[in-house]
Amino acid sequence: MSKVLVVDDEKSIRLTLCAFLRLEGYEAFDASDAHEAIEIVNNNAIDVVVTDIVMPGISGVDLINDIRAVSKDIRIIVMTGEPTLETAVQSVQRGASDYLSKPFRRNDFLRIVGNAAQMKTMIDEKQRLEKQNIEYQHHLEEMVRERTDALRRATIGIVNLLSQVVEFRDPYTSGHQRRVGNLAARIAEEMNLEKSTIENLRIIGYIHDIGKVAIPAEILSKPGRLTSPEIELLKSHSECGYEMVKKVDLPSYFADAVHQHHERLDGSGYPNHLKGDEISIESYILMVADVVEAMELHRPYRPSLGQESALSEIQSNRGVLYHPKVVDACLRLFDSGYKIDDKLYEVSVHL
Ligand SMILES: [Fe+2]
Repeated sequence: MSKVLVVDDEKSIRLTLCAFLRLEGYEAFDASDAHEAIEIVNNNAIDVVVTDIVMPGISGVDLINDIRAVSKDIRIIVMTGEPTLETAVQSVQRGASDYLSKPFRRNDFLRIVGNAAQMKTMIDEKQRLEKQNIEYQHHLEEMVRERTDALRRATIGIVNLLSQVVEFRDPYTSGHQRRVGNLAARIAEEMNLEKSTIENLRIIGYIHDIGKVAIPAEILSKPGRLTSPEIELLKSHSECGYEMVKKVDLPSYFADAVHQHHERLDGSGYPNHLKGDEISIESYILMVADVVEAMELHRPYRPSLGQESALSEIQSNRGVLYHPKVVDACLRLFDSGYKIDDKLYEVSVHL
């Protein structure tokens, strides 16, 4: 039941009003002045204060200010023996919700207190629901965060698994896809592409040779030169990879980049001799990352050609085989001291 505080310097009035309230089931408190009233308000969750206006010391009107400093929700009813409009207006301006003109009847008193108590209950309920709503939202946000983290971990686990499937069959290129993915992401970053493109490119790099699972292992690990038919078979990995990736519900440039990473700007690449705008920017980035990584690292059929040769290859074929903007970004990156790494980064797929 609501808690009501009666403030009046006349003891008989206080006690009578409190008796009325208790008979109605309220928990009633009484105070003889403003100091005592504030003390009670501070220590009890008072719902309604009924206060006299004219009291020794702090007046009822000033008491309203003091109560409002503690709570804006407590309902305040002022009792006045001199019911001038001015006093009522002043009280309402200070934050009183209602007033009673002395003398008043028991029923009027209980009706006004009842209304105020009901209003306070509604305010409390509204606040409880708002708090509950905020807590629910926080809980929901936390759940979404947890699920997103779990999804991210699962994604990188699956991407890594796919990457390892290829490298298991082609052990000489161990770590190649991770290094290409990481370099491609850094080039995209250097080109100021969107974060989603950067992260997706990293994933594409990690699996770009997935089509090699369809190539016989003897070809993949054969030391020395491949025969022409073997080369043709090896080249089919980008087509095979495309067929595999396009079936997954991902942005289309995932499959396109896998398909096009051996195409070249002038149409001299494979499998479809695409040129210029027919090749996506993601593919151009992956292409340069693939070439630089492949030249820089040791291969079964040749030793490492070194970073210098790798960079001079893309520089001399800038605008011929490779997209100029991608080459420029890649050169800037290495100029600033970038070193290719094969770290497995935690990534999310951006759909
Ligand atoms: Fe490839």
